[in-house]
Amino acid sequence: MTSFTINGKPVSVDVEDDTPLLWVIRDDIGLTGTKFGCGIGMCGACTVHVGGRATRACVTPVAAVEGAQVTTIEGLDPNGAHPLQEAWRALQVPQCGYCQSGQIMQAAAMLKDFPAPSDQDIDAVMGGNLCRCMTYLRIRAAIKQAAAAMAGGQS
Ligand code: FES
Ligand code: FES
Repeated sequence: MTSFTINGKPVSVDVEDDTPLLWVIRDDIGLTGTKFGCGIGMCGACTVHVGGRATRACVTPVAAVEGAQVTTIEGLDPNGAHPLQEAWRALQVPQCGYCQSGQIMQAAAMLKDFPAPSDQDIDAVMGGNLCRCMTYLRIRAAIKQAAAAMAGGQS
């Protein structure tokens, strides 16, 4: 049994300790916004926050989040209106959309460290989040738009 908090709600799951957090999030808890891409920590599609830090859920054993605060794309903002989500919509970032939850979660964690990120900051931090649709330029623009909105006091 592993107990943790997900999107502000306490949960306990009765699974093997080495079950990937991604499976627990999708199959046991039923939150399917977090995606399976590679399963080996190489694509970023499964990115969630654990204690506020970007974490690859596919390579994180559920036992490692005992007592932790986990946030998925569904919990990033109660109304789906985080500045990144607003910018993503305004700039129509997604193509197929598959990678985008992970992109947004990675970007949200990045903005805590780099509130006004340069192209180099974005490329360095976001480089591990792959997009087969090549939306990288729109992702970069949306991150900058969100950063500007956050700096301006918008929520
Ligand atoms: S599915 Fe986790 S990094 Fe690719
Ligand atoms: S939008 Fe299709 S994989 Fe990124």
